[in-house]
Amino acid sequence: MSLIIRKATPEDAAPCGQICYEAFLRISSEHNFPPDVPSPEHSVGLLRMMFSHPGFYCVVAQQDGCIVGSNCLDERSSIAGLGPITVDPKVQNSRVGRELMEALLTRAASQNAPGVRLVQAAFHNRSLSLYAKLGFDAREPLSCMQGPALRLSIEGYSVRKAQPADLDACNRLCHAVHGHHRGGDLKDAIEQGTATVVERAGRITGYATVLAFFGHAVAETNPDLQALIGSAESFGGPGILVPTRNSELFRWCLHHGLRVTQPMTLMTLGLYNEPAGAYLSSILF
Ligand SMILES: CC(C)(COP(=O)(O)OP(=O)(O)OC[C@H]1O[C@@H](n2cnc3c(N)ncnc32)[C@H](O)[C@@H]1OP(=O)(O)O)[C@@H](O)C(=O)NCCC(=O)NCCS
Repeated sequence: MSLIIRKATPEDAAPCGQICYEAFLRISSEHNFPPDVPSPEHSVGLLRMMFSHPGFYCVVAQQDGCIVGSNCLDERSSIAGLGPITVDPKVQNSRVGRELMEALLTRAASQNAPGVRLVQAAFHNRSLSLYAKLGFDAREPLSCMQGPALRLSIEGYSVRKAQPADLDACNRLCHAVHGHHRGGDLKDAIEQGTATVVERAGRITGYATVLAFFGHAVAETNPDLQALIGSAESFGGPGILVPTRNSELFRWCLHHGLRVTQPMTLMTLGLYNEPAGAYLSSILF
């Protein structure tokens, strides 16, 4: 059987989105978890955006002329973000996933990305093993959390919509916490109108691209992050990705009615700095 890996085009989004939906539905239902993607239309739309966006490098796997999987690399910021990787359930566990991963790790190296990050479904033995074999280290257990909007504010912390002029301050903050910034992702979120910042004592002390599975947040302290979480009108997708070892934040979310929907793991390859502040991970962006 011939397997080729090639660059994805927007026309590939329909078959790849269908595979993406089926692959996640299969693995999630086998473990009694809700699917990450609610419908094939969602995954087709997501992959169409990623396959068309100049900041992403995406590939498809084609076996004997048929598309059997895809994978994406988010190149908008210095640390590349990998995923979603999905392989047609009919051909899983026969090296297609490894080939899709290796193609993007080669790409990341060719672009001199200092590091690559991904978020792994902690209950999935196969993806965990594959990523570890390819050199990814498990860095942080994450709890995906969902629930009704908290609708709370914290005295002394004011939350507002982020503006383009906030980008530099947010990037400096992200750099101070993570050792690199994610300005590419944040710029898109500001343009889309989903990003928020929190201000304390007249300066920006935290931001969120969106309070959702697909958004990240960075803050100087837990109360800064709590102010951002407290102001969200809802939590998009399966929920926000809270670092479980940040016990204070994790318990605060639990006390405010959020529930854990699934365990996940932040994995990285290459440059990684132990965060010097509070943050929420994102599944992709
Ligand atoms: C995860 C996924 C992309 C992997 O693709 P795949 O084609 O099935 O995987 P591959 O056959 O290329 O690689 C699996 C590797 O894990 C190894 N493996 C599988 N199960 C294992 C286990 N329980 N323990 C140890 N190793 C295991 C295999 O031996 C293989 O290693 P090798 O390449 O060194 O031989 C695919 O299974 C999928 O689409 N799953 C559903 C969606 C998903 O979970 N996506 C990832 C989100 S984090």
